[in-house]
Amino acid sequence: MKIFTTTREVQDYLADLRNNGKTTGFVATMGALHRGHLSLIAQAKQHNNVVICSIFVNPTQFNDPSDLEKYPRPIEKDTQMLIDAGCDILFNPPVNEMYAAHEHWHLQLGEIEHLLEGKFRPGHYQGVTQVVYKLFNIIKPDAAYFGQKDYQQFMVISKLVVLMHLPVKLVMCPILREDDGLAMSSRNIHLTAEDRQHSLVLSKTLFRIRDEFDANNIPALLDEAAAFINAETGVSLEYFEFADSETLQPANQNTKNIVALVAARVGKTRLIDNILIN
Ligand code: PAF
Repeated sequence: MKIFTTTREVQDYLADLRNNGKTTGFVATMGALHRGHLSLIAQAKQHNNVVICSIFVNPTQFNDPSDLEKYPRPIEKDTQMLIDAGCDILFNPPVNEMYAAHEHWHLQLGEIEHLLEGKFRPGHYQGVTQVVYKLFNIIKPDAAYFGQKDYQQFMVISKLVVLMHLPVKLVMCPILREDDGLAMSSRNIHLTAEDRQHSLVLSKTLFRIRDEFDANNIPALLDEAAAFINAETGVSLEYFEFADSETLQPANQNTKNIVALVAARVGKTRLIDNILIN
């Protein structure tokens, strides 16, 4: 696997590949890789000649400095995982390679930025679009692979692609779960053994609510989900919502395609999860 830390080097290398007619599949990550990320790499490998993964803990998308500080950075383990997964290129730049000292970024993302995650993490999606725009610009991938677990992120990045006319195909890959249902996430490392048990209430609630959806109305299901999650020790619910799977506006019984999304603090760790209802 080729490893690059500078923009210039990775751009030159990729330009050569493109000139030789190779297609590139891109997986953007912040490291602390798990099987969910590897499934994105596997998808990218299936459909492209060359797979490139970035590891960059992007400071502009953290609204809580302590969250940024404690974000796991096991770069050696990650590198080995990428080699084992058959990734061709790792782009792992330092912060000063990606950002100049006083950069300003604001994209009119519309309401989607302020819903759900946006309410609890103001500015988060500005930071995400800022770094993804830069990464797409540097790497110029044919296709980019993102996980369904960050559902809203995927919709926001889709909007970025439309607004900026970026010639990249976005692919959403299914959530990977542990055997007991917990959605794989880099943040799961922070869960204590007890938190780990308590966290299962999130996926259990999503599955239960999906199964009950056809026979119930949305307000009753929302009450039920909130009661179920709030009854779990050590879990503090931030939101459980049904949303239109395209716009992420609150869904009603007539909404055609619905996604249920949840965010909660489990002990000291913030987790998100979601499920497509129909
Ligand atoms: O999903 C993530 O890991 C990050 O938000 C991303 C897309 C790599 C941007 O920093």
